[in-house]
Amino acid sequence: MLRVGFIGWRGMVGSVLVERMMADQDFKQIEPVFFSTSQVGQSGPDVGVDTPALKDAYDLEALKALDVVLTCQGGDYTAKVYQPLRDSGWDGYWIDAASTLRMAEDAVIVLDPVNRHIIDEKLAAGYKTFTGGNCTVSLMLMGLGGLFEAGLIEWMTSMTYQAASGSGAQNMRELLSQMNQLGELTRSDLDNPSSAILDIDRKVTAAMRDSSFPTEHFGAPLGGSLLPWIDKKMDNGQSKEEWKGGVETNKILDTAGNPIPIDGLCVRIGAMRSHSQAFTIKLKHDVPMDEIEDRIARHNDWVSVVPNDKDATLSSLTPTAVTGTLNVPVGRLRKMAMGGEYLTAFSVGDQLLWGAAEPLKRMLTVLRE
Ligand code: HSE
Repeated sequence: MLRVGFIGWRGMVGSVLVERMMADQDFKQIEPVFFSTSQVGQSGPDVGVDTPALKDAYDLEALKALDVVLTCQGGDYTAKVYQPLRDSGWDGYWIDAASTLRMAEDAVIVLDPVNRHIIDEKLAAGYKTFTGGNCTVSLMLMGLGGLFEAGLIEWMTSMTYQAASGSGAQNMRELLSQMNQLGELTRSDLDNPSSAILDIDRKVTAAMRDSSFPTEHFGAPLGGSLLPWIDKKMDNGQSKEEWKGGVETNKILDTAGNPIPIDGLCVRIGAMRSHSQAFTIKLKHDVPMDEIEDRIARHNDWVSVVPNDKDATLSSLTPTAVTGTLNVPVGRLRKMAMGGEYLTAFSVGDQLLWGAAEPLKRMLTVLRE
């Protein structure tokens, strides 16, 4: 059995990973060892099998005894530990949720329903470092994998509507605090049917602009508003989140030698944990809609095509409908006014499942095969 060390299992992505592994009884198929940066020596979580006391996540000797390190601890941990561990001669598999190593030559971005053939090739070639992709990239590929697989996409834009969870647990709490504050402020007005909506709106806007409004984590009000910038600025005017859309997609698909142009604007909205994206896709030729829908729907077990009508869209193509599931619905599919080669689509996916934990969980299964 593979001896697998878990680091960062208590955080948001780590907790979702442990939940998913429990649900599929994965812990029974490995020898799990839990690590901690703060509670060394205490008991590990109850995952249905015996585990040793928590080991120190910075103890290279303890890490060297593992076949696999699976970390959701974040980029700082990876930056501190990965290279010293490799330099010590450790030759095990490193599976990582952070972006630190993603674009490294010797790292493979894993999303096995899309790039299993590449994962297998790299494993055979001796690659030992595997990372999850950026959440919008993984969710986009789970939705549109059938069109990429058929080589139908000439270029594409992705305009995103990203949930608070992508920024972390504290940000989710801040979004709720903002909503709560606005709710409390307007409670008596809403209870009074004759109150004037423009007065309520003025009150809300003033509260959101007030320096006391809770914005420590997002840097600006998100509840009742949106934030059209995610992550750092790149030299070309893109945000880093927008840059990742192009480079990571082409790395996952192994098309970096002849990259498919992919770009767009990334926007944070007040959803909790499901990211949505609106696509404009330039097809290489005018493909009939039934073929497009068929290719999308058949690509993997989790994608589905939502009929392009209002009822189906509002019931199935929203963060509320998708959150907490592995489903990746794709809808609003239609040709655009620009011509038959221009397709638009909209997708939603849980940012913590296919966007983060699930590809890592499945990579562990690949290693067990
Ligand atoms: N960078 C993403 C976001 C999260 O901010 O929503 C994970 O890839």
